Amino acid sequence: MISVAIDGPAGAGKSTIAKLAAKKLNFIYVDTGALYRTLGLAGAESKADIHDDSQLERLLQSSRVELKYSGSEQRVLLNGEDVSERIRSSEMGAAASEISAIPRVREHLLDMQRDMAKSNNVIMDGRDIGTVVLPNADVKIFLTASPECRAKRRLRDLEAKGEAVDYDEVLQMIIKRDYQDSHRETAPLKPADDSILIDTTELNLEQSADKIISVIAERTGIKI
Ligand code: DC
Repeated sequence: MISVAIDGPAGAGKSTIAKLAAKKLNFIYVDTGALYRTLGLAGAESKADIHDDSQLERLLQSSRVELKYSGSEQRVLLNGEDVSERIRSSEMGAAASEISAIPRVREHLLDMQRDMAKSNNVIMDGRDIGTVVLPNADVKIFLTASPECRAKRRLRDLEAKGEAVDYDEVLQMIIKRDYQDSHRETAPLKPADDSILIDTTELNLEQSADKIISVIAERTGIKI
């Protein structure tokens, strides 16, 4: 099995680019952020205090998170309900960022992520895939772009979903999330020592996906 880890900050285009690359290579795309978003949603719905150990434990035990695939497209289910769309709001992004900083939550999701890579060729995106989840991944990519560029892309995505937001607000949110994700104690966002850094500030979607595919082909020897 071949595993490709793609890590990087919010809005670097990881999911769109990884999805496209996975489709072209016929790999399964695993969006690990969706798992944290789903637990963020579960926490918000239950109104549990996620910083209280026993309430958190109850929440984790009563929240069955599953990934389903049709082709290379991922759907995420919470206790059997497809929540793939509901978790995409910026509110759920913030809830995910908060819950993902708790070590017990990260441990809870670890085996599930590793199991996906045991039985499938995967492109897995997240923050700690190359450092913690799949330290032996065949290819590790750290995808980034300037905060301003990421804010513009995020703005477009949120507007397309009908969320009314302004550029400065999105930029501040991105800067805050970068800080939170890279300064937490457990599995902070940082490039693995053996990762390849790709900056997509000056690249469009196709160019970014092509670049990743050529890096994967070069490293694994697979023909494209
Ligand atoms: O990639 P995303 O925006 O869907 O991620 C939502 C949050 O989940 C993000 O703030 C950081 C967290 N996350 C994480 O801690 N580890 C991962 N592997 C993926 C996401």
